[in-house]
Amino acid sequence: MEDVVQKAKDHFEGLVKAQLKRIEELKKGADWIDYSKLKPIIIGVAGGDYIGPEITKHAESILKFLLKEEVESGKIQFKDIEGLTIENRAKLMKAIPDDVLIELKKCHVILKGPTHTPSSADLASGKWPNLESANVSMRRELDLFANVRPVKVPELGIDWIFFRENTEGAYVLGSKGISVTEDLAFDFCVHTKQGTDRILRLAFDYAKKTGANRVSLVTKANVVKTTDGMYLNMAKKLAKEEYPEIKFDDWYIDIMAAKLIDPERQKEFRVFVAPNLYGDIITDEAAQIQGSVGTAGSANIGKRYAMFEAIHGTAPRMVETGRTKYADPTSIIKASAMLLNHIGFVGKARKLEMALDICAIYEKKLKVTGRDTGATGEEFGKYIMQTLQDPNLEKKWENYQKK
Ligand code: IPM
Ligand code: MG
Repeated sequence: MEDVVQKAKDHFEGLVKAQLKRIEELKKGADWIDYSKLKPIIIGVAGGDYIGPEITKHAESILKFLLKEEVESGKIQFKDIEGLTIENRAKLMKAIPDDVLIELKKCHVILKGPTHTPSSADLASGKWPNLESANVSMRRELDLFANVRPVKVPELGIDWIFFRENTEGAYVLGSKGISVTEDLAFDFCVHTKQGTDRILRLAFDYAKKTGANRVSLVTKANVVKTTDGMYLNMAKKLAKEEYPEIKFDDWYIDIMAAKLIDPERQKEFRVFVAPNLYGDIITDEAAQIQGSVGTAGSANIGKRYAMFEAIHGTAPRMVETGRTKYADPTSIIKASAMLLNHIGFVGKARKLEMALDICAIYEKKLKVTGRDTGATGEEFGKYIMQTLQDPNLEKKWENYQKK
């Protein structure tokens, strides 16, 4: 008995010390990188696993098409990132192999296809060993603290943007829980003042800058009192003292999950801010309301690096049943538009968003269904590129808005 308690204490002590050290780093609070001053801006491309390389290829072609002049002038440079594959990660038993991380750190922004995290079925069958998610690891290693996910459904009046904290909460020690005995298991949830402050500010600043003027916080502070309680207290204080012009409200995750599908309430929300796990859950719900998780893009933003990805997984079943080429690239193309916007190509990003709306929502000359009943990802990518070349793109888009 004494033994297991001591082991648990030692384990906890190690975690506390590591987190205190992390806080010291956070306190240094680096400045935001300024892309307008960079030449070249290096865009790393990592295809990921299963359907990942296929859909990423189509998004990359669109980016290269839109950035042709900038590549020629040396303002933009593309860089292939090799080795972020499940085969290589399993071989080296690393969520991100060291040499891959070095390559990633040579980039400024990264376009990443979905990477496979071994499931319990994979472990049981021995197909893949137990590995931490490459996503979670990359978010932590590159300090990508904000996961920004927009969701729009014009016909329902929905125009949402989620600011999900991306490096703390239930995730930061997600693979450092402890089985004290066979009967007793602990996981840890960690929030820091610095980590909470920076995501709250990003959400409030966005609401202020865009005129959205409303921020809704999502926690479960009535039960998870210490860590979520910290969010709630800090958010209330920040709202009152520094953003008095912005309407602030707070919700518990359960009722928020219900209100997101309440036709009366859903149109009232604009900007959401949430700790990691709640943000994970409600952004999938929101993406489903928009159509499916295949339709939403995701930006992982930090002060030095940023990574843009599809919000869905690797769809091994599609590959196993020979449907890879029918995988829908919409999500990662949306992520590419977010990438363009983030590095300052606001006009190009907007054009890509309009082309996506036209191709996927309005005109729909081609439809990707995930099977041979629909278009291939490549055909859809080409459809987007053709639409981008239409001199009347903007007018066309505006006309659809009026209908
Ligand atoms: C997401 C995903 C990841 C997460 C998984 C793959 C670890 O669901 O990006 O939302 O939980 O963050
Ligand atoms: Mg998720």
